[in-house]
Amino acid sequence: MNNIHQILQKDSFSRNDLVVLLSDTDPQHDELIREKAYQVKEAVVGRKVLLRGLIELSNICRKNCLYCGIRSDNRKVHRYLLQEKEVLAAARFAHEQHFGSLVIQSGERNDKVFTDYVSRLLEKIKEQTNGALAVTLSCGEQTADDYQQWLHSGAHRYLLRIEASDAGLYKRIHPDDENHSYNKRLNALSATQQAGYQTGTGVMIGLPGQTIENLADDLLFFKNFDIDMIGMGPYIPHEDTPLASQSNLLSDEERVRLSLRMISVLRLLMPEINIASTTALETLVPDGKKIGIMAGANVVMVNLTPQSVREDYMLYNNKSGIYNDEWQDFKSFLKLTDLCGEQVLWDKAGSSLHFLKKKAACSGALAE
Ligand code: 5AD
Ligand code: SF4
Repeated sequence: MNNIHQILQKDSFSRNDLVVLLSDTDPQHDELIREKAYQVKEAVVGRKVLLRGLIELSNICRKNCLYCGIRSDNRKVHRYLLQEKEVLAAARFAHEQHFGSLVIQSGERNDKVFTDYVSRLLEKIKEQTNGALAVTLSCGEQTADDYQQWLHSGAHRYLLRIEASDAGLYKRIHPDDENHSYNKRLNALSATQQAGYQTGTGVMIGLPGQTIENLADDLLFFKNFDIDMIGMGPYIPHEDTPLASQSNLLSDEERVRLSLRMISVLRLLMPEINIASTTALETLVPDGKKIGIMAGANVVMVNLTPQSVREDYMLYNNKSGIYNDEWQDFKSFLKLTDLCGEQVLWDKAGSSLHFLKKKAACSGALAE
């Protein structure tokens, strides 16, 4: 018999176990699963929050994903690219406030001007902060050469969400063309890993037509791909996108519940990886980032994007924090970690323990 109590005693999980854990809706089990995930987190990565400063570099994107507010067909969006001095000011803020790490996220561009601009930013950030900030890039699908170039310029980690690991579901949420090929995305994710980055991916939770089995397979996909870090959160419609007209959407509460359950079950399945508590979660529930941490996540991003362009990086409706500046976001973060009773790892790169162990197996040292 596969009851929840028995499954929670295990340290390896079958697909069926994952389906049972994800589909269970007994409110009493909510706390049980969450507590177990938190225990595992505490024992393996500690009651520690890893802090990253987020810079939304540009909303210019050559893609047209059916769910995304900054898709290329959305002509209502005012497009921007941050200037070098704006990016460096954000990096300086992060360094001065003892962040150990930055995430630079952008819409997808494949031209050399952009590739070289990102390289220059990486080099300048390194120079300006004496290499004190670990940098994650999240700039979409690129060639293996471009991934190499950015790695050599100073990036450490790469985040490329698979969005939906089921090829059929992926196809239903993207235009049917070569620009949005599932196989190309898979190959790009492999290329980031082969280049030597700490590799991150993730999915949206509660997509129209997505099943519990799809979500269980997403978790197995992360495991089979030997992923180091995950950012996943609820799907939230954006009014100016084709996917928003789909009527078969779970309620906000259901998508929040499922997102938290996904975090907890992933912590049980992959105890050593980094898992982010996302802005999308916070958009649907006011203390979303806190409850994400309590469900087993260990990474929080503080938005350092200049306030003047935040409204233009609107991936979904009512995105949290668009009227804030970096100080307001930073103060909310301090309040959140205080409320959770978690230690903030100031001045630390905050690498994925899973990645460090893989590296140590080859090279010896295990640096934080
Ligand atoms: N709801 C939730 N997440 C979204 N993203 C894009 N659009 C949405 C949406 N409508 C996420 C995608 C993408 C990241 C930049 O934002 O997962 O990878
Ligand atoms: Fe571009 Fe990413 Fe939005 Fe797709 S999800 S349209 S690639 S920014």
